Amino acid sequence: MPNTTSPAWRALAEHRDSVAQSHLRDWFAADPARFSRLSLEFEGMLVDFSKQRIDQRALELLLDLTKDADLKGWRDRLFSGEKINFSENRAVLHPALRYLKTGPFPSAETDVMPQVREVRAHMRQFSERVRAGLWRGFSGEAIRDVVNIGIGGSDLGPKMVVRALSAYQHPGLHMHFVSNIDSAHLATLIERLDPRSTLFVVASKTFTTQETMINAHTAREWLCAAAGEDAERALPLHFVAVTANEEQARAFGLPAANVFRLWDWVGGRYSLWSAVGLPIALAIGMNGFERLLSGAQAMDTHFREAPLEKNLPVLMALIGVWNTNFLGAGTSAVLPYHESLRFLPSFLQQLEMESNGKTVGRDGKPLSCQANPIVWGEIGSNGQHAFFQLLHQGGWLVPSDFIASAQSDHPLPGHQAPLLANFLAQSAALAFGKTEQDARAELEAAGVPSEQIESLLPHKVFAGNQPSTTIILPRIDAYHLGLLLAMYEHKVFVQGVIWGINSFDQWGVELGKQLAGRLLPALKGETATEGLDQSTSALIGWCREYGDF
Ligand code: F6P
Repeated sequence: MPNTTSPAWRALAEHRDSVAQSHLRDWFAADPARFSRLSLEFEGMLVDFSKQRIDQRALELLLDLTKDADLKGWRDRLFSGEKINFSENRAVLHPALRYLKTGPFPSAETDVMPQVREVRAHMRQFSERVRAGLWRGFSGEAIRDVVNIGIGGSDLGPKMVVRALSAYQHPGLHMHFVSNIDSAHLATLIERLDPRSTLFVVASKTFTTQETMINAHTAREWLCAAAGEDAERALPLHFVAVTANEEQARAFGLPAANVFRLWDWVGGRYSLWSAVGLPIALAIGMNGFERLLSGAQAMDTHFREAPLEKNLPVLMALIGVWNTNFLGAGTSAVLPYHESLRFLPSFLQQLEMESNGKTVGRDGKPLSCQANPIVWGEIGSNGQHAFFQLLHQGGWLVPSDFIASAQSDHPLPGHQAPLLANFLAQSAALAFGKTEQDARAELEAAGVPSEQIESLLPHKVFAGNQPSTTIILPRIDAYHLGLLLAMYEHKVFVQGVIWGINSFDQWGVELGKQLAGRLLPALKGETATEGLDQSTSALIGWCREYGDF
C-alpha cells in the first residue's frame, strides 16, 4: 500500500497546501510556455495537461512516488509475464496480444507468441470467409448480421471499438451486441433478424457467466427452431465461441474449429486485443484489427521506453493521483466529443473501477488513502446541455478528460468546426471561469440597469479552476484508437502500482453473484425466504406476487 507518511507523500501534501489558493488563470498568466511544457505529442495524438492544477514542483514530487512504489520494477514484472495477479495466480500479458513483430514477446519468461499467432490466424481465416460471403448459414445464405453475446470485458471493449470504427465497417455486415440478461435485449434484436443469415459469437472467458449463458441458450433455441430438422448441422454454421474454457464451449455443441481461444493471462477488461476482438475483425477486417493492435503496441513501447517525465500513461496516472489524493476529487469524467466514442465512458468505467476500485493493498492491509475515483461520462456535446451546469457552478471538483479528433469520421459539411469550438470552449470555461469583474462589465455593456446587475451578478460568476486534460487524435482510426486505449490501460496499471493494489483481480463482483444464486430458488418459490434479511425477503414476496416468471 502507499506509504502516505513517506517524505514524498508528505512533501506533496505540503506543496498542495502551498498552491491550494492558486488559480489556473494565474498559472497561465505567469507562464507563457505552460502549454508547451505541459503537453505531449505522440504519433499524432496530442495530450494537453496544462489545464490540470499542476506545476513543475508537483510533477517532480509525483515522480518521486514512482520511485517509492518501484514503478520501473513493476513495469518489468508486468512485461516479463510474472504472476503479478497473485490472488488469482495469473500473469498479466495482454501486451503480448498486440505484439506484431516476429519472435518471442521481449522479456517474457514463457513464449506465448506461438499460441497468440495461431489464434490470430484462425481469426483472419474465419473473418475473411464471413466478410467475403463464403461462410454460409444452414440454408446457404451468407452472413448479414453478427450478434456478440457477452458481458463486461467480453462486451464493452469490442462494442466500443466497433462503434468507434463504424466508418470503416463492412457495409454488408450489421454488428449487434447483447449483454443484458433482461430478455428485452435479445428479444427486441432477434425479432428483426433472419436466423438464416445470423452469426452468434458467444464471448465469455469462463463460459459460465450467467447472463451470457442464458442469452446464448435462448439464441441457440431460436436458431434451432428455425433450422428445424437441420438444427444439428446449423449450430456450428451460426455459432462460434471465444473462451478460455473450451470444454464448456464443446458442451454447448461447438466443434473445436468454432472455438477461438484465450488464456488465463488475459484479464476480461484487457481482452479486446485477443479473440474477444473477433467482432472487430469481422466489422473492419483482420488488417484493420491488426492496425488497432499496432497502435496499442506503439503505446506499449512508449510506456516501456520513454522517460517517466515524458511518459503519457505515467503522467496521466500521476495527475490522477494528484487530483484524487491531494486535491480531493472523488470523481473523474470522460467526455468524448465524437459520436463514435459513445461507449468509451462505459469501457473506461470497467477498466478503471474494476481494476482499482479497491481499499485493500497487495499486502492485505487497508489502504491509507482513497484509490480510484468514480469514473463516469457522456458524449460532451450532450453533457453540455445536461450536467455541465454542475461542472461549471456546482462547487464540486470534477477533473475531466476531453477527447476529440481533429478530423471527422463522416463527411457531412459544417459540423466539425462547431463541434471542436464547443469542445475547446468548455475546457477553457471550466479552467478560467468568469470573474465578478468580467461578469459585471458584460452586464453593463449589455445595458442592464445597475440594481438588476447586483441581483444577477452572483449567478453570472464562474469560479473556474476545474482541471481537465485535453486529448486530440488526428482522426479516430484503428491505429490511433489503439494508442488511446493502451494509454488508459497503462495509466490504470501505474495508478495501481502507486496505490499498491493488485489491479487485475475483481473479487468485489463475487458477493452479488453468490447471493443471486441463493435468491433465485427463493424467487421461484422453491425455497423459503427464511434467513434472508427483512428487506430482501419482503422484496422477494413483492416480486412473487406481481412477477410473471
Ligand atoms: O463479473 C465480472 C466479470 O468477471 C468481468 O471481470 C468480466 O469481464 C465479465 O464478468 C465477463 O466474464 P466472462 O468473460 O467470463 O463471461
